[in-house]
Amino acid sequence: MINVGIIGGSGYTGVELLRLLLPRTDVSIRFVSSRAHAGTRVDEQFTSLRGHCDLEFSDPATINQAECDLVFFATPNGTAMHQAPALLEAGVKVVDLSADYRIKDIGTWERWYGLTHTSPAWVERAVYGLPEINREAIRSADLVANPGCYPTTVQLGFLPLLEAGLVDTKSLIADAKSGVSGAGRAASVPTLLAEASDNFKAYGVSGHRHLPEIEQGLTFMSDSPIDLTFTPHLLPIIRGIHATLYAPLKSGVSASEEELQALFESRFKSEPFVDVLPSGVYPETRSVKGSNTVRLSVLKPQGRNTVVVLAVEDNLVKGAAGQAVQNMNLMMGMEETEGLQGLPLLP
Ligand SMILES: NC(=O)c1ccc[n+]([C@@H]2O[C@H](COP(=O)([O-])OP(=O)(O)OC[C@H]3O[C@@H](n4cnc5c(N)ncnc54)[C@H](OP(=O)(O)O)[C@@H]3O)[C@@H](O)[C@H]2O)c1
Repeated sequence: MINVGIIGGSGYTGVELLRLLLPRTDVSIRFVSSRAHAGTRVDEQFTSLRGHCDLEFSDPATINQAECDLVFFATPNGTAMHQAPALLEAGVKVVDLSADYRIKDIGTWERWYGLTHTSPAWVERAVYGLPEINREAIRSADLVANPGCYPTTVQLGFLPLLEAGLVDTKSLIADAKSGVSGAGRAASVPTLLAEASDNFKAYGVSGHRHLPEIEQGLTFMSDSPIDLTFTPHLLPIIRGIHATLYAPLKSGVSASEEELQALFESRFKSEPFVDVLPSGVYPETRSVKGSNTVRLSVLKPQGRNTVVVLAVEDNLVKGAAGQAVQNMNLMMGMEETEGLQGLPLLP
């Protein structure tokens, strides 16, 4: 049995962590924090948890966090960088769902996030928590920087093509769409029902914070410099990301759709949470809703030169809390898939 805590338990990734962790008999949740709801029962805020959770929200300032083996930070960017170091120094492992420890170059992080980083030494020690590329390092990590939601789909979609050196890394395109829960639970005009439903639009086209994270990851997979055009869109759904990725084959390289299919199947055959669909079947967001799976298709339309990858995930599961639990399992020497084998919810 391990003891865990959740800082930021009243948000969407926090309640998703609770949904995944509460049924487990090998994990005890010692605290769930919320400053706004401190002293109230968690199941008053989230009636979905009634009968499964006797905890009250605590103010993070009053909690003895060091009694935990591992603490999740499900907090806005710029929070964990202040609070995680003391825990880490007390021997507590940390999985940070925010972007505080994802980007190795501090100047790049500070430029994109508009903050001064307060614990750069821990950025250096943090392991980027994408198990499909970093599994062994995650097992022995004290601090895991859980990837962003878009970066998970986009990196996994490009991964086999970059590792095999097949595509022109200066001409990559990620055209990606997310449901509104990706913006978190705090009230904001763009995520109001009357704004987001029955509507579809791009945002952050001139520069989204996930761009440097994705480019850093793709650079790690490839021996050539990366140039990615990344355009995010807001979908009128609650959960789900759909990314359509475009990568032209390098000049002089030929690969048939059958060869690309075989490459993807072979790269992910041992991955418990990546499903390569049969040739000709396209992924849909509802096929992964509530599950920790990324589903992918690889195509070469009309036999032309551009490889197209379609990738879907649930932004709150493989894009956030599910991947965080997968990382916890690895860090704590547990079975990687423990608690993550629930089936998607459909329709
Ligand atoms: N939503 C997604 O799909 C998604 C996917 C991947 C990664 N992420 C990342 O995961 C993190 C959490 O996202 P979310 O969507 O769950 O956000 P959210 O719904 O806005 O929840 C944020 C939580 O953090 C707490 N909090 C805010 N400021 C705090 C502070 N200074 N100290 C301690 N607690 C604080 C809030 O509670 P109180 O204010 O009451 O304390 C709340 O419980 C973010 O960094 C986000 O970028 C989100």
